[in-house]
This record gives sequence, structure tokens and C-alpha cells, in this order.
Amino acid sequence: MDAIALLKNDHQTVSKLFKQFENLGEHATTSKQGLVTKITEELTTHAYIEETIFYPFARERVPDVEDDVKEGIEEHHVLKVTMAELAAMSPDDEEYDAKVTVLKEVVEHHVEEEEDDWFPKVRDAVGRNDLGEVGDQMEVAKSDAPDRPDPSE
Ligand SMILES: [Fe+2]
Ligand SMILES: [Fe+2]
Repeated sequence: MDAIALLKNDHQTVSKLFKQFENLGEHATTSKQGLVTKITEELTTHAYIEETIFYPFARERVPDVEDDVKEGIEEHHVLKVTMAELAAMSPDDEEYDAKVTVLKEVVEHHVEEEEDDWFPKVRDAVGRNDLGEVGDQMEVAKSDAPDRPDPSE
């Protein structure tokens, strides 16, 4: 599968989960926790396949995206810290919803930079076959990806 199409699919999945969260009632604590767990699993797996496969590939093949990739890794770190904090909280906590909103905003900003600023540069610089191979590697790697964030990364 095309690497960029695969990553964009993941972005869509996460965006839908955030929408579901927003549609929940304020006191739907069990559903809130379930959705945040699902968002955390999706994002952790996604960050893992990007950091271990797509980002190193992009860096090596397209030197022009070096700074974008570095910024992306720092943003992943912010996401991991926020997700780890949420995992230690209860949806009843006063700060819970605000922290989910911040997580969503950081994700949106990060996804926009990937999809609009630098994935197109990779698409232009790299052939379809190579992107297909990298996509296949990422599909396989999903099965050994962690599903809990490590905030020390
Ligand atoms: Fe991404
Ligand atoms: Fe990313």
C-alpha cells in the first residue's frame, strides 16, 4: 500500500475518534475513557511506524524535509506526554476534557504540517514503487508496535 495513503488513513481514523469524543455527553465517563484509550492506541502505533520507518526513509531520500521531520518527532513527544497524563487520569477529573482538547489540537496541527507541508515533497521526490514498499513495511510493523505511549521517548 502507498505509504502516504496509509498514513493519511490513520489520520482520518483518529480525527473520527476525536469527533465521537466531542459528541459524548459531559458525564459519559466510560465512553470517554474507551475513546481516549482507542485514540491513544491508534496514535501510539502511528507515531511508531512513522518514527521507525517513514521518517527515517523521508530524511534519507529527501534532505529538504530534515527540519520538518525533527519538528515532527518533537510534536510526537508532546503527544506521548499528554497521552500518558490522560492514561493516569479519570474522565471525572476537572482537567480531563481540556487535556483531550489540547491533544486534539496538537494532533490537528501536526497532521496539517505532515499532509500540507512536507508529505507532498516526499511524494514528488520518491517513486511510486518505493512508496508502495515503505507502505507495506509499515503495515507489517503495525503488529509489533507498542500501544501505550512512552513519554520518555
Ligand atoms: Fe502522521
Ligand atoms: Fe506524525
